[in-house]
Amino acid sequence: MKDRTFRQDHLLGIEHLSVDDIETILETAEAFIEVSSRDVKKVPALKGKTVVNLFFENSTRTRSSFEIAAKRLSADLINFNSSVSSLKKGETLKDTVLTLEAMNPHIIVIRHSASGAPHYLTTFARSSIVNAGDGFHEHPTQALLDALTIRQRLKTLRGLKVAIVGDILHSRVALSNILLHQKLGNEIALVGPPSLVPVEFEKLGATVYYDIRRGVKNADVVMMLRVQAERGARNYFPSIREYRNLFAIDRPIFALAARRAILMHPGPINRDVEIETSMADSDQSVILQQVTNGIAVRMAVLYLLKGEIHEALN
Ligand code: NCD
Repeated sequence: MKDRTFRQDHLLGIEHLSVDDIETILETAEAFIEVSSRDVKKVPALKGKTVVNLFFENSTRTRSSFEIAAKRLSADLINFNSSVSSLKKGETLKDTVLTLEAMNPHIIVIRHSASGAPHYLTTFARSSIVNAGDGFHEHPTQALLDALTIRQRLKTLRGLKVAIVGDILHSRVALSNILLHQKLGNEIALVGPPSLVPVEFEKLGATVYYDIRRGVKNADVVMMLRVQAERGARNYFPSIREYRNLFAIDRPIFALAARRAILMHPGPINRDVEIETSMADSDQSVILQQVTNGIAVRMAVLYLLKGEIHEALN
């Protein structure tokens, strides 16, 4: 494994990462992919370190992905379940975190419905803070695992057209991916109804399309997003049927993309709302590869924040 050039104390968002940081995380993740293919999927890189999963929103895949990542690095992991916690008894987020920190963890992985919650923790916490999704803001490990998947399939992360389709407004996955591909100099097309894709997003260097055919044309990557019903997204268009007719990806529309194009989705998918079922299960779909890569990327992030270099892969 290469020497560490990662000098961050926390992972709050793609916003704070340099292109070198992104490359370091992806290279480290590639080294960890091999660990997950072993019979015994464990290395001692975080032995004696404690990781707290502090999730205030429902999550299965991201929480379990961080859990598996921490365990494959030999860390001790605590899942803090907010629904049965003292927050329900009126404790503030700050007091909850201070209480957890009195037990001396090394890393706190936080998911919260409030944008900025992970950043707030860094103003008083001693642990390394990892953002596992904050409100509409960022979801950096998702964009990093997407980037790893793109690089595996397309053999490059440069010179690409990346089309992101759907509920951009409510999507932290979209913002983290926009920031990442902007840093890498890729062309970004944002596609969806005007109510969910405000033209202000063009200030981030993207081009907005309200016609999926134009947005997806010649794209190397087509990234579909979930309609965030729990954030009220269904009030932003007249009906699911209309949304599906205008913005779901099916074979004829995907055929407009580049010949080698890949189809992505962060999950959970709504089959036949965002993505036609045969497309979701097609050879061009990398949805399950994204899930697998999530573990390697999260191992890389935890390791780069708190690991011991000489013990990484033994
Ligand atoms: C994403 C999220 O929570 O932001 N999902 C995930 O991390 N597995 C995307 C989504 O919920 O649509």
